[in-house]
Amino acid sequence: MGNPIEKIREYVSLREKQLNRPLRAAVKTFGCQMNAHDSEKLEAMIISMGYNLISDERQADLALINTCCVRENAENKLYGHLGIMKGVKSGNPDMKLAVCGCMTQQNAMAEAIMRNYKHVDIIFGTFNLSRFPELLLTSIESGSQVIDIWEEPDGSDLPAPEHRHFAKKASVNIMYGCDNFCSYCIVPYVRGRERSRRLADILGEVKCLAGDGAAEVMLLGQNVNSYGRSGRYTGNGADTEKPVSFAELLNKVCEIDGIERIRFMTSHPKDLSDELIETIRVQPKACKHVHLPVQSGSSRILSLMNRQYSKEGYLELTGRLRERIPGVALTTDIIVGFPGETENDFEETLDLAKRVRFSGVFTFIYSKRPGAPAAAMEGQAPPETVRRRFDRLLSAVNPIILEENQKHIGKTLSVLAESVSRSNRALLTGRAGDNSLVHFTSDASRVGEFARVKITGCKTFYLIGEEVK
Ligand code: 5AD
Ligand code: SF4
Repeated sequence: MGNPIEKIREYVSLREKQLNRPLRAAVKTFGCQMNAHDSEKLEAMIISMGYNLISDERQADLALINTCCVRENAENKLYGHLGIMKGVKSGNPDMKLAVCGCMTQQNAMAEAIMRNYKHVDIIFGTFNLSRFPELLLTSIESGSQVIDIWEEPDGSDLPAPEHRHFAKKASVNIMYGCDNFCSYCIVPYVRGRERSRRLADILGEVKCLAGDGAAEVMLLGQNVNSYGRSGRYTGNGADTEKPVSFAELLNKVCEIDGIERIRFMTSHPKDLSDELIETIRVQPKACKHVHLPVQSGSSRILSLMNRQYSKEGYLELTGRLRERIPGVALTTDIIVGFPGETENDFEETLDLAKRVRFSGVFTFIYSKRPGAPAAAMEGQAPPETVRRRFDRLLSAVNPIILEENQKHIGKTLSVLAESVSRSNRALLTGRAGDNSLVHFTSDASRVGEFARVKITGCKTFYLIGEEVK
């Protein structure tokens, strides 16, 4: 079909002449950082196809929705959105609407979306992002619905996107997929088996990003601690002579000039090594923050979840992290209402949360995912009980988060200024090394820079401060 990107560029410039205005495209992203990073790659393709990227998909000539299916409410958001886009599209019949991401990889889902939402033009999955331009061209040329879902990855590795959501911050995939099969989770089924990118590809990408002005990188994987362990690799680079661990990879990324901060997520407690703890401790560029999802504080529920650690094991690990890395911030994910969770199990979760003293907790109500093993498990507590437990969990963790924040008052922290605050235009918003969100007085010209910020106060979810010169 020739080079699809070139052909779309021709189409875009022709339409722009006919309409006497630029053609616009927007990507709407649901879900996690992995999806947000996939969207950056897709946005880079969209720019190379000649579209102008905008944020409001209702004004777009090409709208792409990158979906999430980790919980049912993420799926419902897509349906709501598709409803809105139906009305929008009737006002711009030329508009192309594409849907991609985790939801489309679920069994028979893509066909169902196509059948029920005739205004969707293109559907593709998580394994064939690189085919988007080709699929768009087919849709433009044929005018009919185009669907392309693969069961396996296409093996290609997309280059680091030139377009980034924040110029100074970049995400880098170090691995794809997941082999852990936590019983509640759909991710292994929609993202496939765990495969690591080769060391040379990762380091090459980070160097390239450093050359392009990025100062902070986030190394992304569903379970970064098992980097290289599956023995399955993907990408273009040569094999290293001997596989490297995640700690070795992190050490090597720390050596790259220009990169000042390195974050990583997500860590699975069962695979977090002493070697990694030591690397975080000694490497000044490694952020002193570990996102370590615990999911539950009950060893019985953890076993039903197939998490492969116990409450005691988790407490021991977080104890070791705190002892070896002074000031480390620990954040977590907790699921409430897993099938069979009793009052006793829930109290174990409250007890664990109080003992670990997290600086941030993402709390979720269990959502039944057809296809994941827990969907067949019995004994879910009534929704009102689960809701009450959820509220009790928030009431237990929020005061601790506030107390952890109060410990920062009086300190001067290095904060990467990300944007002008949405709620108060006189403030900038950024993140400290330990991932604390900071609102601080400064000057809009400082967005994208590291600032030294004296912390003067805090609320539950953020610190307040002022830039000191
Ligand atoms: N229901 C509720 N929460 C879930 N998560 C993953 N699957 C489910 C589910 N079925 C949560 C876990 C995970 C986070 C990304 O989403 O806490 O760590
Ligand atoms: Fe899902 Fe567990 Fe894999 Fe995380 S580690 S993506 S929760 S299966």
